[in-house]
Amino acid sequence: MKTKAFTGKFNEIDADSVAIAVFKDEKIKDGVLEALDKQTDGLVSSIFQSGEFTGEEGETTLLRVKSEGKKKVRRFLLVGVGEKSEYNLPSVEIFAGTAARSFRKLKISDFALFPRFEGDELEVASNAIQGVITGLFELDKYKTAKNGEETRINSVTVAIEGANKKRIEEGIERGKVIGESINFTRELANEPPNILTPTEMAKRAEVMAKAVGLKCEILDKEDMQRLGMGSFLSVAAGSHEPPKMIILKYEPKKSKKGEMLAFVGKGITFDTGGISLKPAEGMEAMKYDMTGGGTVLGIMRAIALLKPSVPVLGVVAATENMPGGKATRPSDVVKAMNGKTIEILNTDAEGRLILADAVAYAEKQGATHIVDIATLTGAVIIALGNINTGIMGNDQDFIDQIIQCGKETGEKFWQLPIGKEYSKMIKSDIADIKNIGPARKAGTIIGAVFIQEFVDKAKWAHLDIAGTAWADEPSPHRSKGPTGVAIKTLIKLTEKFQNRN
Ligand code: BES
Ligand code: MN
Ligand code: ZN
Repeated sequence: MKTKAFTGKFNEIDADSVAIAVFKDEKIKDGVLEALDKQTDGLVSSIFQSGEFTGEEGETTLLRVKSEGKKKVRRFLLVGVGEKSEYNLPSVEIFAGTAARSFRKLKISDFALFPRFEGDELEVASNAIQGVITGLFELDKYKTAKNGEETRINSVTVAIEGANKKRIEEGIERGKVIGESINFTRELANEPPNILTPTEMAKRAEVMAKAVGLKCEILDKEDMQRLGMGSFLSVAAGSHEPPKMIILKYEPKKSKKGEMLAFVGKGITFDTGGISLKPAEGMEAMKYDMTGGGTVLGIMRAIALLKPSVPVLGVVAATENMPGGKATRPSDVVKAMNGKTIEILNTDAEGRLILADAVAYAEKQGATHIVDIATLTGAVIIALGNINTGIMGNDQDFIDQIIQCGKETGEKFWQLPIGKEYSKMIKSDIADIKNIGPARKAGTIIGAVFIQEFVDKAKWAHLDIAGTAWADEPSPHRSKGPTGVAIKTLIKLTEKFQNRN
Protein backbone atom coordinates (compact mmCIF):
# COMPACT_ATOMS: atom_id res chain seq x y z
CA MET A 1 0.00 0.00 0.00
CA LYS A 2 1.51 3.30 -1.14
CA THR A 3 0.82 6.36 0.98
CA LYS A 4 0.90 10.02 0.02
CA ALA A 5 0.41 13.39 1.65
CA PHE A 6 -1.59 16.17 -0.02
CA THR A 7 -2.13 19.72 1.20
CA GLY A 8 -4.22 21.32 -1.58
CA LYS A 9 -7.94 21.60 -2.20
CA PHE A 10 -10.12 18.55 -1.67
CA ASN A 11 -11.35 18.42 -5.26
CA GLU A 12 -7.88 18.70 -6.79
CA ILE A 13 -6.52 15.58 -5.13
CA ASP A 14 -4.75 13.23 -7.49
CA ALA A 15 -6.88 10.17 -6.68
CA ASP A 16 -9.72 8.24 -8.21
CA SER A 17 -11.95 8.60 -5.16
CA VAL A 18 -12.05 10.83 -2.10
CA ALA A 19 -13.72 10.20 1.27
CA ILE A 20 -14.96 13.35 2.98
CA ALA A 21 -15.92 13.58 6.64
CA VAL A 22 -19.39 15.07 7.06
CA PHE A 23 -20.77 16.19 10.42
CA LYS A 24 -24.20 15.42 11.76
CA ASP A 25 -26.83 17.79 10.33
CA GLU A 26 -24.09 19.86 8.76
CA LYS A 27 -25.20 22.94 6.84
CA ILE A 28 -24.22 23.11 3.18
CA LYS A 29 -22.92 26.62 3.89
CA ASP A 30 -19.52 25.22 4.81
CA GLY A 31 -16.86 25.79 2.12
CA VAL A 32 -16.17 22.15 1.28
CA LEU A 33 -19.77 20.95 1.07
CA GLU A 34 -20.81 24.06 -0.82
CA ALA A 35 -18.12 23.49 -3.45
CA LEU A 36 -19.06 19.84 -3.71
CA ASP A 37 -22.73 20.73 -4.03
CA LYS A 38 -21.90 23.07 -6.91
CA GLN A 39 -19.71 20.51 -8.63
CA THR A 40 -22.53 17.94 -8.42
CA ASP A 41 -25.34 20.30 -9.48
CA GLY A 42 -27.01 20.21 -6.10
CA LEU A 43 -26.70 16.49 -5.44
CA VAL A 44 -25.33 17.04 -1.92
CA SER A 45 -28.28 19.25 -0.91
CA SER A 46 -30.79 16.80 -2.29
CA ILE A 47 -29.19 13.88 -0.43
CA PHE A 48 -29.34 15.89 2.79
CA GLN A 49 -32.94 16.98 2.16
CA SER A 50 -34.13 13.45 1.44
CA GLY A 51 -32.77 12.35 4.81
CA GLU A 52 -30.92 9.40 3.27
CA PHE A 53 -27.71 10.76 4.75
CA THR A 54 -27.61 12.71 8.00
CA GLY A 55 -23.93 12.59 8.98
CA GLU A 56 -24.43 10.06 11.77
CA GLU A 57 -21.19 8.22 12.60
CA GLY A 58 -20.74 5.23 10.28
CA GLU A 59 -23.13 6.38 7.51
CA THR A 60 -21.76 6.50 3.97
CA THR A 61 -23.02 7.56 0.58
CA LEU A 62 -21.24 7.61 -2.77
CA LEU A 63 -21.42 10.44 -5.34
CA ARG A 64 -20.15 10.05 -8.87
CA VAL A 65 -18.86 13.20 -10.59
CA LYS A 66 -17.42 14.04 -14.00
CA SER A 67 -13.68 14.57 -13.84
CA GLU A 68 -12.67 17.70 -15.69
CA GLY A 69 -9.48 19.71 -16.12
CA LYS A 70 -7.38 19.65 -12.98
CA LYS A 71 -10.10 17.72 -11.21
CA LYS A 72 -9.39 14.02 -11.55
CA VAL A 73 -11.63 12.75 -8.80
CA ARG A 74 -14.48 10.60 -10.12
CA ARG A 75 -16.18 9.67 -6.86
CA PHE A 76 -16.75 11.28 -3.52
CA LEU A 77 -17.68 9.16 -0.55
CA LEU A 78 -19.49 11.13 2.14
CA VAL A 79 -18.71 9.55 5.51
CA GLY A 80 -20.76 10.56 8.54
CA VAL A 81 -18.63 11.35 11.58
CA GLY A 82 -21.29 12.50 14.06
CA GLU A 83 -21.50 15.77 16.00
CA LYS A 84 -18.86 18.34 15.10
CA SER A 85 -18.43 19.27 18.78
CA GLU A 86 -17.49 15.64 19.57
CA TYR A 87 -15.19 15.11 16.58
CA ASN A 88 -11.74 14.10 17.86
CA LEU A 89 -8.67 12.08 16.86
CA PRO A 90 -10.27 8.69 17.60
CA SER A 91 -13.16 9.77 15.34
CA VAL A 92 -10.63 10.31 12.55
CA GLU A 93 -9.63 6.65 12.89
CA ILE A 94 -13.28 5.57 12.68
CA PHE A 95 -13.79 7.81 9.65
CA ALA A 96 -10.74 6.32 7.91
CA GLY A 97 -11.64 2.73 8.74
CA THR A 98 -15.20 3.23 7.52
CA ALA A 99 -13.97 4.83 4.29
CA ALA A 100 -11.39 2.10 3.60
CA ARG A 101 -13.92 -0.70 4.14
CA SER A 102 -16.50 1.02 1.92
CA PHE A 103 -13.98 1.59 -0.87
CA ARG A 104 -12.81 -2.01 -0.70
CA LYS A 105 -16.38 -3.23 -1.00
CA LEU A 106 -16.72 -1.03 -4.11
CA LYS A 107 -13.45 -2.50 -5.45
CA ILE A 108 -11.79 0.91 -5.38
CA SER A 109 -8.09 0.48 -4.70
CA ASP A 110 -6.84 4.07 -4.98
CA PHE A 111 -8.38 6.66 -2.71
CA ALA A 112 -7.80 9.73 -0.61
CA LEU A 113 -9.03 10.70 2.85
CA PHE A 114 -10.14 14.22 3.68
CA PRO A 115 -10.75 14.10 7.44
CA ARG A 116 -11.52 17.81 8.03
CA PHE A 117 -10.10 17.70 11.55
CA GLU A 118 -8.57 20.93 12.80
CA GLY A 119 -5.56 19.93 14.83
CA ASP A 120 -2.02 18.62 14.66
CA GLU A 121 -1.64 17.18 11.16
CA LEU A 122 0.83 14.57 12.38
CA GLU A 123 -1.75 13.07 14.73
CA VAL A 124 -4.54 13.40 12.16
CA ALA A 125 -2.51 11.55 9.52
CA SER A 126 -1.43 8.92 12.04
CA ASN A 127 -5.00 8.19 13.13
CA ALA A 128 -6.18 8.17 9.51
CA ILE A 129 -3.59 5.67 8.27
CA GLN A 130 -3.94 3.51 11.38
CA GLY A 131 -7.69 3.49 10.79
CA VAL A 132 -7.19 2.29 7.21
CA ILE A 133 -4.80 -0.49 8.26
CA THR A 134 -6.92 -1.76 11.15
CA GLY A 135 -10.10 -1.21 9.10
CA LEU A 136 -8.98 -3.59 6.40
CA PHE A 137 -8.07 -6.47 8.74
CA GLU A 138 -10.13 -9.62 8.05
CA LEU A 139 -10.52 -13.06 9.61
CA ASP A 140 -10.09 -14.89 6.29
CA LYS A 141 -6.51 -16.17 6.63
CA TYR A 142 -7.59 -19.80 6.37
CA LYS A 143 -10.21 -19.38 3.64
CA THR A 144 -9.03 -20.86 0.35
CA ALA A 145 -11.60 -18.80 -1.57
CA LYS A 146 -11.92 -15.25 -0.24
CA ASN A 147 -15.29 -13.55 -0.25
CA GLY A 148 -14.88 -10.25 -2.04
CA GLU A 149 -12.51 -8.83 0.55
CA GLU A 150 -9.49 -9.54 -1.63
CA THR A 151 -9.33 -6.11 -3.29
CA ARG A 152 -5.85 -4.88 -2.47
CA ILE A 153 -5.49 -1.21 -1.72
CA ASN A 154 -2.80 0.30 -3.95
CA SER A 155 -2.62 3.84 -2.75
CA VAL A 156 -3.99 5.99 0.08
CA THR A 157 -3.58 9.76 0.21
CA VAL A 158 -4.04 11.77 3.39
CA ALA A 159 -5.30 15.21 2.40
CA ILE A 160 -5.23 18.11 4.85
CA GLU A 161 -5.65 21.48 3.19
CA GLY A 162 -2.95 23.99 4.10
CA ALA A 163 -1.06 21.58 6.35
CA ASN A 164 2.67 20.93 6.67
CA LYS A 165 3.41 18.09 4.25
CA LYS A 166 6.42 16.81 6.21
CA ARG A 167 4.33 16.44 9.34
CA ILE A 168 1.63 14.56 7.45
CA GLU A 169 4.32 12.20 6.17
CA GLU A 170 5.67 11.68 9.67
CA GLY A 171 2.15 11.00 10.86
CA ILE A 172 1.64 8.44 8.11
CA GLU A 173 4.74 6.55 9.28
CA ARG A 174 3.53 6.60 12.86
CA GLY A 175 0.08 5.41 11.83
CA LYS A 176 1.62 2.51 9.93
CA VAL A 177 3.62 1.39 12.95
CA ILE A 178 0.63 1.54 15.28
CA GLY A 179 -1.84 0.01 12.80
CA GLU A 180 0.45 -2.86 11.86
CA SER A 181 1.26 -3.54 15.51
CA ILE A 182 -2.45 -3.71 16.36
CA ASN A 183 -3.01 -6.11 13.46
CA PHE A 184 -0.04 -8.20 14.59
CA THR A 185 -1.85 -8.74 17.89
CA ARG A 186 -5.20 -9.36 16.18
CA GLU A 187 -3.70 -11.95 13.90
CA LEU A 188 -2.28 -13.83 16.91
CA ALA A 189 -5.61 -13.67 18.74
CA ASN A 190 -7.42 -15.00 15.69
CA GLU A 191 -5.12 -18.00 15.20
CA PRO A 192 -6.63 -21.38 16.01
CA PRO A 193 -5.10 -22.98 19.09
CA ASN A 194 -3.75 -26.01 17.20
CA ILE A 195 -1.56 -23.57 15.26
CA LEU A 196 -0.77 -20.96 17.88
CA THR A 197 0.67 -23.20 20.59
CA PRO A 198 2.88 -21.63 23.27
CA THR A 199 5.89 -22.78 21.24
CA GLU A 200 4.56 -21.10 18.09
CA MET A 201 3.74 -17.92 20.00
CA ALA A 202 7.32 -17.82 21.27
CA LYS A 203 8.64 -18.36 17.74
CA ARG A 204 6.57 -15.51 16.37
CA ALA A 205 7.74 -13.27 19.19
CA GLU A 206 11.35 -14.12 18.34
CA VAL A 207 10.87 -13.39 14.63
CA MET A 208 9.13 -10.11 15.41
CA ALA A 209 11.79 -9.11 17.96
CA LYS A 210 14.55 -9.72 15.45
CA ALA A 211 12.76 -7.71 12.76
CA VAL A 212 12.29 -4.63 14.96
CA GLY A 213 15.45 -4.88 17.08
CA LEU A 214 14.21 -6.04 20.48
CA LYS A 215 16.06 -8.39 22.83
CA CYS A 216 14.13 -11.63 23.19
CA GLU A 217 14.61 -14.50 25.60
CA ILE A 218 12.37 -17.56 25.91
CA LEU A 219 12.24 -19.34 29.27
CA ASP A 220 11.22 -22.98 29.06
CA LYS A 221 9.93 -25.38 31.66
CA GLU A 222 13.35 -26.14 33.17
CA ASP A 223 14.19 -22.44 33.48
CA MET A 224 10.87 -21.85 35.19
CA GLN A 225 11.41 -24.78 37.56
CA ARG A 226 14.78 -23.30 38.49
CA LEU A 227 13.12 -19.93 39.13
CA GLY A 228 10.50 -21.55 41.35
CA MET A 229 7.51 -20.66 39.22
CA GLY A 230 5.29 -23.35 40.72
CA SER A 231 2.14 -21.36 40.13
CA PHE A 232 2.66 -20.93 36.38
CA LEU A 233 3.80 -24.54 35.98
CA SER A 234 0.71 -25.89 37.78
CA VAL A 235 -1.40 -24.56 34.90
CA ALA A 236 0.86 -26.10 32.26
CA ALA A 237 0.90 -29.50 33.99
CA GLY A 238 -2.09 -30.94 32.14
CA SER A 239 -0.87 -30.10 28.65
CA HIS A 240 1.43 -31.93 26.25
CA GLU A 241 2.44 -28.55 24.82
CA PRO A 242 5.50 -27.15 26.60
CA PRO A 243 4.93 -23.79 28.35
CA LYS A 244 6.95 -20.72 27.40
CA MET A 245 7.70 -17.47 29.15
CA ILE A 246 8.46 -14.87 26.51
CA ILE A 247 10.69 -12.00 27.64
CA LEU A 248 11.21 -8.93 25.44
CA LYS A 249 13.40 -5.98 26.29
CA TYR A 250 13.45 -2.50 24.88
CA GLU A 251 16.40 -0.39 26.00
CA PRO A 252 16.48 3.23 24.82
CA LYS A 253 19.72 5.06 24.05
CA LYS A 254 19.15 7.56 26.83
CA SER A 255 16.78 7.27 29.75
CA LYS A 256 16.53 9.09 33.05
CA LYS A 257 15.57 8.18 36.59
CA GLY A 258 16.05 4.40 36.69
CA GLU A 259 12.41 3.62 36.14
CA MET A 260 11.30 0.66 34.06
CA LEU A 261 7.87 -0.03 32.66
CA ALA A 262 6.71 -3.62 32.26
CA PHE A 263 3.79 -5.04 30.32
CA VAL A 264 2.80 -8.52 31.41
CA GLY A 265 0.29 -10.57 29.41
CA LYS A 266 -1.87 -13.63 29.95
CA GLY A 267 -1.04 -16.02 27.13
CA ILE A 268 -3.38 -18.99 27.59
CA THR A 269 -3.41 -20.33 24.01
CA PHE A 270 -6.48 -22.38 24.90
CA ASP A 271 -8.48 -22.49 28.13
CA THR A 272 -10.51 -25.66 28.62
CA GLY A 273 -10.78 -24.90 32.33
CA GLY A 274 -8.53 -27.87 33.14
CA ILE A 275 -10.00 -30.42 35.58
CA SER A 276 -12.62 -27.78 36.50
CA LEU A 277 -13.68 -28.24 32.88
CA LYS A 278 -15.70 -25.55 31.10
CA PRO A 279 -19.04 -26.46 29.48
CA ALA A 280 -18.78 -27.34 25.75
CA GLU A 281 -20.98 -24.48 24.63
CA GLY A 282 -18.88 -21.45 23.82
CA MET A 283 -15.60 -23.09 24.74
CA GLU A 284 -14.24 -22.34 21.25
CA ALA A 285 -14.04 -18.68 22.24
CA MET A 286 -11.21 -19.60 24.58
CA LYS A 287 -8.67 -19.47 21.76
CA TYR A 288 -8.55 -15.74 22.46
CA ASP A 289 -7.45 -16.32 26.05
CA MET A 290 -3.92 -15.42 24.91
CA THR A 291 -4.96 -11.92 23.85
CA GLY A 292 -3.31 -10.22 26.83
CA GLY A 293 -0.04 -11.85 25.78
CA GLY A 294 -0.60 -10.96 22.14
CA THR A 295 -1.29 -7.39 23.23
CA VAL A 296 2.07 -7.24 24.99
CA LEU A 297 3.79 -8.41 21.80
CA GLY A 298 1.97 -5.78 19.71
CA ILE A 299 2.88 -3.01 22.16
CA MET A 300 6.54 -4.07 22.25
CA ARG A 301 6.66 -4.12 18.45
CA ALA A 302 5.34 -0.55 18.29
CA ILE A 303 7.66 0.64 21.06
CA ALA A 304 10.71 -0.79 19.31
CA LEU A 305 9.84 1.24 16.22
CA LEU A 306 8.66 4.45 17.90
CA LYS A 307 11.66 4.53 20.27
CA PRO A 308 10.44 6.33 23.40
CA SER A 309 13.14 7.11 25.99
CA VAL A 310 12.04 4.71 28.73
CA PRO A 311 13.14 1.09 29.20
CA VAL A 312 10.27 -1.34 28.69
CA LEU A 313 10.05 -5.00 29.59
CA GLY A 314 7.48 -7.29 27.99
CA VAL A 315 6.57 -10.59 29.65
CA VAL A 316 4.16 -13.13 28.18
CA ALA A 317 3.21 -16.22 30.16
CA ALA A 318 2.18 -18.73 27.48
CA THR A 319 0.64 -22.14 28.13
CA GLU A 320 -2.47 -24.18 27.49
CA ASN A 321 -4.90 -25.00 30.28
CA MET A 322 -5.84 -28.66 29.70
CA PRO A 323 -7.20 -31.57 31.70
CA GLY A 324 -5.06 -34.73 31.76
CA GLY A 325 -3.45 -37.32 33.99
CA LYS A 326 -0.80 -34.88 35.14
CA ALA A 327 -3.16 -31.92 35.43
CA THR A 328 -3.50 -29.92 38.63
CA ARG A 329 -6.41 -31.04 40.84
CA PRO A 330 -8.78 -28.72 42.71
CA SER A 331 -7.28 -28.72 46.26
CA ASP A 332 -3.63 -28.94 45.11
CA VAL A 333 -1.23 -26.57 46.82
CA VAL A 334 1.63 -24.94 44.89
CA LYS A 335 4.34 -22.39 45.65
CA ALA A 336 4.90 -19.30 43.48
CA MET A 337 8.19 -17.62 42.66
CA ASN A 338 7.82 -15.06 45.47
CA GLY A 339 7.47 -17.86 48.03
CA LYS A 340 3.72 -17.59 48.59
CA THR A 341 1.69 -20.82 48.75
CA ILE A 342 -1.56 -21.14 46.82
CA GLU A 343 -4.42 -23.55 47.30
CA ILE A 344 -5.91 -24.12 43.85
CA LEU A 345 -9.63 -24.65 44.31
CA ASN A 346 -10.68 -24.08 40.71
CA THR A 347 -8.32 -24.90 37.84
CA ASP A 348 -10.36 -22.61 35.56
CA ALA A 349 -9.09 -19.59 37.50
CA GLU A 350 -5.74 -20.16 35.75
CA GLY A 351 -4.96 -16.70 34.37
CA ARG A 352 -4.13 -15.31 37.81
CA LEU A 353 -1.91 -18.34 38.49
CA ILE A 354 0.33 -17.69 35.49
CA LEU A 355 0.31 -13.93 36.02
CA ALA A 356 1.40 -14.42 39.64
CA ASP A 357 4.81 -15.67 38.52
CA ALA A 358 5.01 -13.41 35.47
CA VAL A 359 4.39 -10.25 37.49
CA ALA A 360 6.86 -11.32 40.21
CA TYR A 361 9.41 -12.03 37.50
CA ALA A 362 8.92 -8.59 35.93
CA GLU A 363 9.53 -6.87 39.27
CA LYS A 364 12.61 -9.00 39.92
CA GLN A 365 13.94 -7.79 36.57
CA GLY A 366 13.72 -4.22 37.86
CA ALA A 367 10.26 -3.08 36.74
CA THR A 368 9.07 -0.10 38.78
CA HIS A 369 5.71 0.18 36.97
CA ILE A 370 3.77 -2.90 35.87
CA VAL A 371 0.66 -3.17 33.74
CA ASP A 372 -0.80 -6.65 33.37
CA ILE A 373 -3.28 -7.34 30.59
CA ALA A 374 -5.55 -10.36 30.67
CA THR A 375 -8.83 -11.90 29.55
CA LEU A 376 -9.17 -12.78 33.20
CA THR A 377 -12.84 -13.05 34.17
CA GLY A 378 -16.28 -13.65 32.74
CA ALA A 379 -17.47 -11.39 35.56
CA VAL A 380 -16.03 -8.29 33.89
CA ILE A 381 -18.32 -8.95 30.92
CA ILE A 382 -21.30 -9.05 33.28
CA ALA A 383 -20.18 -5.81 34.94
CA LEU A 384 -19.05 -3.71 31.96
CA GLY A 385 -20.21 -5.53 28.83
CA ASN A 386 -18.06 -5.10 25.72
CA ILE A 387 -17.60 -1.37 26.18
CA ASN A 388 -15.21 -0.71 29.05
CA THR A 389 -12.02 -2.51 30.02
CA GLY A 390 -11.91 -3.11 33.78
CA ILE A 391 -8.97 -1.42 35.49
CA MET A 392 -7.71 -1.94 39.04
CA GLY A 393 -4.40 -1.28 40.74
CA ASN A 394 -2.38 -0.18 43.75
CA ASP A 395 -1.60 3.40 42.73
CA GLN A 396 -4.33 5.90 41.87
CA ASP A 397 -2.05 8.23 39.88
CA PHE A 398 -0.87 5.39 37.68
CA ILE A 399 -4.46 4.21 37.12
CA ASP A 400 -5.56 7.78 36.31
CA GLN A 401 -2.75 8.12 33.77
CA ILE A 402 -3.93 5.00 31.95
CA ILE A 403 -7.58 6.12 32.00
CA GLN A 404 -6.52 9.52 30.64
CA CYS A 405 -4.45 7.94 27.83
CA GLY A 406 -7.54 5.90 27.00
CA LYS A 407 -9.63 9.06 26.70
CA GLU A 408 -7.12 10.43 24.21
CA THR A 409 -7.09 7.27 22.10
CA GLY A 410 -10.80 6.50 22.26
CA GLU A 411 -10.50 3.44 24.51
CA LYS A 412 -12.70 3.24 27.59
CA PHE A 413 -11.52 2.03 30.99
CA TRP A 414 -13.62 1.78 34.13
CA GLN A 415 -12.05 1.41 37.53
CA LEU A 416 -13.26 -1.16 40.04
CA PRO A 417 -12.15 -0.99 43.68
CA ILE A 418 -9.69 -3.27 45.45
CA GLY A 419 -8.71 -3.30 49.13
CA LYS A 420 -8.16 -5.25 52.35
CA GLU A 421 -11.77 -6.43 52.59
CA TYR A 422 -11.48 -8.09 49.20
CA SER A 423 -8.01 -9.47 49.87
CA LYS A 424 -9.40 -11.22 52.97
CA MET A 425 -11.77 -13.13 50.71
CA ILE A 426 -8.90 -15.17 49.23
CA LYS A 427 -7.42 -16.34 52.55
CA SER A 428 -7.00 -20.12 52.46
CA ASP A 429 -7.56 -22.57 55.32
CA ILE A 430 -4.37 -24.46 54.55
CA ALA A 431 -2.14 -22.20 52.42
CA ASP A 432 -1.38 -18.46 52.22
CA ILE A 433 -4.08 -17.77 49.67
CA LYS A 434 -6.60 -19.60 47.45
CA ASN A 435 -7.21 -18.85 43.79
CA ILE A 436 -10.95 -18.13 44.03
CA GLY A 437 -13.24 -16.16 46.33
CA PRO A 438 -16.80 -16.87 47.48
CA ALA A 439 -19.03 -18.00 44.60
CA ARG A 440 -20.15 -15.21 42.23
CA LYS A 441 -19.02 -12.40 44.51
CA ALA A 442 -16.86 -9.62 42.98
CA GLY A 443 -15.27 -12.02 40.51
CA THR A 444 -13.23 -9.42 38.64
CA ILE A 445 -11.92 -7.79 41.81
CA ILE A 446 -10.97 -11.16 43.30
CA GLY A 447 -8.82 -11.82 40.22
CA ALA A 448 -7.07 -8.49 40.74
CA VAL A 449 -6.39 -8.86 44.46
CA PHE A 450 -4.96 -12.31 43.78
CA ILE A 451 -2.43 -10.89 41.31
CA GLN A 452 -1.67 -8.06 43.75
CA GLU A 453 -0.24 -10.65 46.17
CA PHE A 454 2.68 -11.05 43.75
CA VAL A 455 3.50 -7.37 43.38
CA ASP A 456 5.98 -6.08 45.94
CA LYS A 457 6.95 -2.40 45.68
CA ALA A 458 6.11 -1.68 42.06
CA LYS A 459 3.24 0.52 40.98
CA TRP A 460 0.82 -1.85 39.34
CA ALA A 461 -2.34 -1.74 37.22
CA HIS A 462 -4.40 -4.70 36.06
CA LEU A 463 -6.50 -4.55 32.88
CA ASP A 464 -9.26 -7.14 32.50
CA ILE A 465 -9.94 -7.18 28.75
CA ALA A 466 -12.22 -10.27 28.68
CA GLY A 467 -15.14 -8.11 27.47
CA THR A 468 -13.29 -5.75 25.14
CA ALA A 469 -10.72 -7.94 23.35
CA TRP A 470 -13.24 -9.55 20.98
CA ALA A 471 -16.07 -7.99 18.94
CA ASP A 472 -18.97 -10.36 18.22
CA GLU A 473 -20.28 -8.06 15.48
CA PRO A 474 -18.51 -6.06 12.78
CA SER A 475 -18.79 -2.27 12.88
CA PRO A 476 -18.53 0.13 9.90
CA HIS A 477 -14.84 0.76 10.61
CA ARG A 478 -13.66 -2.67 11.73
CA SER A 479 -14.30 -6.37 11.19
CA LYS A 480 -15.61 -8.57 13.95
CA GLY A 481 -13.17 -10.63 15.98
CA PRO A 482 -10.07 -9.47 17.85
CA THR A 483 -10.09 -5.72 18.53
CA GLY A 484 -6.50 -5.03 19.62
CA VAL A 485 -7.89 -3.09 22.58
CA ALA A 486 -5.48 -1.25 24.94
CA ILE A 487 -2.54 -1.20 22.53
CA LYS A 488 -2.98 2.44 21.54
CA THR A 489 -3.56 3.46 25.14
CA LEU A 490 -0.47 1.70 26.44
CA ILE A 491 1.74 3.03 23.63
CA LYS A 492 0.56 6.49 24.64
CA LEU A 493 1.24 5.71 28.31
CA THR A 494 4.80 4.69 27.43
CA GLU A 495 5.42 7.80 25.35
CA LYS A 496 4.06 10.11 28.05
CA PHE A 497 5.95 8.25 30.76
CA GLN A 498 9.23 9.93 29.95
CA ASN A 499 7.73 13.43 30.24
CA ARG A 500 5.54 13.14 33.31
CA ASN A 501 6.45 14.78 36.63
N1 BES B 1 -10.44 -17.08 30.43
C1 BES B 1 -11.42 -17.11 31.44
C2 BES B 1 -12.21 -15.80 31.54
C3 BES B 1 -13.12 -15.50 30.38
C4 BES B 1 -14.42 -15.97 30.39
C5 BES B 1 -12.68 -14.74 29.35
C6 BES B 1 -15.26 -15.66 29.32
C7 BES B 1 -13.52 -14.43 28.31
C8 BES B 1 -14.80 -14.89 28.29
C9 BES B 1 -10.80 -17.37 32.80
O1 BES B 1 -9.68 -18.18 32.78
C10 BES B 1 -11.83 -18.05 33.62
O2 BES B 1 -12.17 -19.15 33.31
N2 BES B 1 -12.29 -17.37 34.66
C11 BES B 1 -13.27 -17.90 35.52
C12 BES B 1 -12.84 -17.63 36.94
C13 BES B 1 -13.65 -18.36 37.98
C14 BES B 1 -13.41 -19.84 37.89
C15 BES B 1 -13.28 -17.84 39.34
C16 BES B 1 -14.59 -17.21 35.21
O3 BES B 1 -14.58 -16.03 34.90
O4 BES B 1 -15.62 -17.88 35.24
MN1 MN C 1 -10.16 -20.23 32.90
ZN1 ZN D 1 -8.61 -18.19 31.07
